[in-house]
Amino acid sequence: MNIKHIFLIFTIIAATNAVKKSYEGYKVYKVIPKTEDDVKILNIVQELGIGEFWDDNVSVKSDAKIMVSRDLQNEFLTQMEQAQIEVTEVISDLQKVIDDQLTPAKPKSRFERESFHSMSWDRYYSLSEIHAWLDQLNTSYPNIVQTVTWGRSNENRELKGIIINYHPQRAGQLKAVIEGAVHAREWITPATATWIIKEFLTSNDREVRALAEGFEWHILPVANPDGYSYTFTNNRMWRKNRNTSYNRTCATNVDDDMSNGVDLNRNFDFNWMSIGASNDPCSNTFAGSAGFSEPESRAISNYVRDLNSDGQLIYYLAFHSYTQLVIVPYSHITSADDVLEAENYANMFEIGARSADRLRERFGTTYRVGVSADVMYPMSGTSFDWVKNATDVPVCFLLEFRDLGEYGFLLPPEQIIPNGMEAMDFLLEMDQTTRILGYYDPARSGSNSLFKSLLVLVFSILAALNA
Ligand SMILES: *[C@@H]1O[C@H](CO)[C@@H](O)[C@H](O)[C@H]1NC(C)=O
Ligand SMILES: [Zn+2]
Repeated sequence: MNIKHIFLIFTIIAATNAVKKSYEGYKVYKVIPKTEDDVKILNIVQELGIGEFWDDNVSVKSDAKIMVSRDLQNEFLTQMEQAQIEVTEVISDLQKVIDDQLTPAKPKSRFERESFHSMSWDRYYSLSEIHAWLDQLNTSYPNIVQTVTWGRSNENRELKGIIINYHPQRAGQLKAVIEGAVHAREWITPATATWIIKEFLTSNDREVRALAEGFEWHILPVANPDGYSYTFTNNRMWRKNRNTSYNRTCATNVDDDMSNGVDLNRNFDFNWMSIGASNDPCSNTFAGSAGFSEPESRAISNYVRDLNSDGQLIYYLAFHSYTQLVIVPYSHITSADDVLEAENYANMFEIGARSADRLRERFGTTYRVGVSADVMYPMSGTSFDWVKNATDVPVCFLLEFRDLGEYGFLLPPEQIIPNGMEAMDFLLEMDQTTRILGYYDPARSGSNSLFKSLLVLVFSILAALNA
């Protein structure tokens, strides 16, 4: 380590002591490592703190996005040039793109500005704004909408969800769950969840109405309220919750604040810490001290377990961003041979693929479908895998929304409505295919368990023949 490095490190420490992290002068670069050697070099660049990686998981042939401060840009580019790794500058002024997230987008003729009570979908909304909006709906639709507290966060914020039920008197009502913003910086996810809520309450489209009214919807727009708040007040790029009890001194070049949080989507107690998770609090994928060590993941698991005590939960959707993926359980498996570990994998895949096809019809946006190992990388301790295993819900997906990495977590506000429309297209086709596959009785009379048992039986026979 030379004097220059030491100087640079002091600059970083000085810069990160400020209350609200500024990304003034930062650029975002994209590199695609072609070989394992490239991956090693990028890991060293990461360890030296020359750039902050959007994702800890650097792997061959997949994009890595790296934020580099003004002072380190020459150093970074020189390193990449020496290693002959190709670099594309994707964001030239990071702070400007961050500021634009809170600036209402100009209404385009195609998507007029839409408002519903205190919300529009032309900018991103803070936690208190979202919670206030949910309360307004509760007041305005007392017979259909009910707010509900799933639990409390580390910093005692409410995990505030909403129940939409058009037929509260109907026995054996089917149920569906949408969870947003387990990862704090993925702002498009609560924006999409609230868009769907608005559609369920206002749309005149026959298919949307059937979907809205056919289920008791449980929607939790912000599952990680502390982290989400932190992205507004302190650091736009924060991912984890805000559990400060693991606080420690991180590597010289990593801000110690990195240790103040757990990745909630690694903290669920199913195959906890088996793969794609870290036991280092300074990592973005720190899994916590044990499965369900965190109040947020405990609250979600308790709520969903209670919800499905009558076996009527059909859908669990976890919203994330970005890279346009439909991820099918399970995420810990590492080879395509294992996909049948989720008993109805083939059906879930078909449902996901058909829904992605329908989504593409609207604007040509393509989503890839598969287990995490095939479309991204293996991981463990996620909410949707836990739900699939613990409650045996038939259809369980993790959706990674727009885009493919141009803006990544900083999706411009003018894409909120198009992304919302695509998400709704996905849901409509998902429900249609699920029904065709016989997972529930369209007449909604009585139990769906016979259908399910038959499917399980057919599936076991097929699996046995394949073995
Ligand atoms: C959940 O996982 C356990 C352990 O891997 C397994 O024995 C069980 O069958 C799974 N349950 C479901 C419903 O997939
Ligand atoms: Zn995520």
